[in-house]
Amino acid sequence: MGTYAVTGSASGMGAASAALLTEAGHTVIGVDLRDADVIADLGTAEGRASAVEEILGACGGTLDGVAAVAGVGASMKDAATVVSVNHFGPVALLEGLRLALARSEAGRAVVISSNSASTVPLVDDALVELCLKGDEESARRHAREAQAAMPAEVTAFAPSISAYASSKLALAHWVRRTAVTPEWGREGVLLNAIAPGAVVTPLMLSSTGEDLDPDSFHTPMPLGTFGKPEDIAFWVHQFLRPEARFTTGSILYVDGGTDAAMRPDAQ
Ligand code: NAI
Repeated sequence: MGTYAVTGSASGMGAASAALLTEAGHTVIGVDLRDADVIADLGTAEGRASAVEEILGACGGTLDGVAAVAGVGASMKDAATVVSVNHFGPVALLEGLRLALARSEAGRAVVISSNSASTVPLVDDALVELCLKGDEESARRHAREAQAAMPAEVTAFAPSISAYASSKLALAHWVRRTAVTPEWGREGVLLNAIAPGAVVTPLMLSSTGEDLDPDSFHTPMPLGTFGKPEDIAFWVHQFLRPEARFTTGSILYVDGGTDAAMRPDAQ
C-alpha cells in the first residue's frame, strides 16, 4: 500500500479522492486550509513551503503520489488569489515533492485543471505567459489590472473568470512542459492533468446557485447530467496507480462531453 498526499482534501473532489485512496488501503496525507492532516494556505509561498515540509515529515521522504486538487473558482473576488492558488500552489507543491516522488518505485502526480481552459473565450495569454515564467508577483498584478479593465457585465457574473481560465490553462501547459523533462520522465515520475467540467461541489454552487438544470446550463452538458466529486476521484485514482505506466503529460477531460460538444474537431 502506498502513501499519497491530496490537497483540497476537506471538500469536493479532493475529499472524494482522499476517501477513495483510503478505502483502497493507502495512507493519505490530506492538505487544506482546515480539517486536514496538514493545514496550509497554498496561495502563499510560506504556506506552500510549510506544506511541503510537513508532507515530507509525514511520509518519511518517500511519496507514491500527489493529487493537487485544491483550488478556487471564478466566483472568487480577487483575481490575484485565483492565480496564486490555482497555478502557483500546485506547481510549487509538486516541485517541492518531486524528489520524494522519485524515491517511490512508481511516483505519480495528478493536478486538476479545468475544461474552462479550453471552453472559456476569455483566456488572457499574457497572464498565462507570466504564470509559465514563474513570475508570481507580476502575474498577480496583471490579473488584478486585467480584472479592473473587464466589462462590469462579465465580472458581475464571475469576477475572476479570465484569471480562472488562464490559471487553469497555464497549469495544463506546465504539466505538459514539465512531465517530459528528464527530472520527471526519466526519474519515472508520471505527471498528468484532469480537466473537469461542471461538477456539483461547494465551489460550483458558489457560482451557479442551487437551482441547476443541465439542459439550460451555460455550457452544453451532452450527458444530461452534472458530475459528482466521485466521478473525478475515480480518474485521480487511476492516474495515481502504479499500473498507470505509459501516460504522462496528458490532459484528460472528465466533463460529461462539454469540451467535445464545444470543440468537436480539436484534439
Ligand atoms: P471545493 O471548494 O469543494 O474544494 C476545494 C478545496 O480546496 C476546499 O477544501 C478548499 O478549502 C481548498 N482550498 C482552497 N483554497 C486553498 C488554499 N489557499 N490552500 C489550501 N487549500 C485550499 O471545490 P472542488 O469543486 O472540489 O474543486 C477542486 C478543484 O477542481 C479545484 O482546483 C477547482 O478549481 C477545480 N474545478 C472544479 C470544477 C467544478 O465544477 N467544481 C470544474 C473544473 C475544475
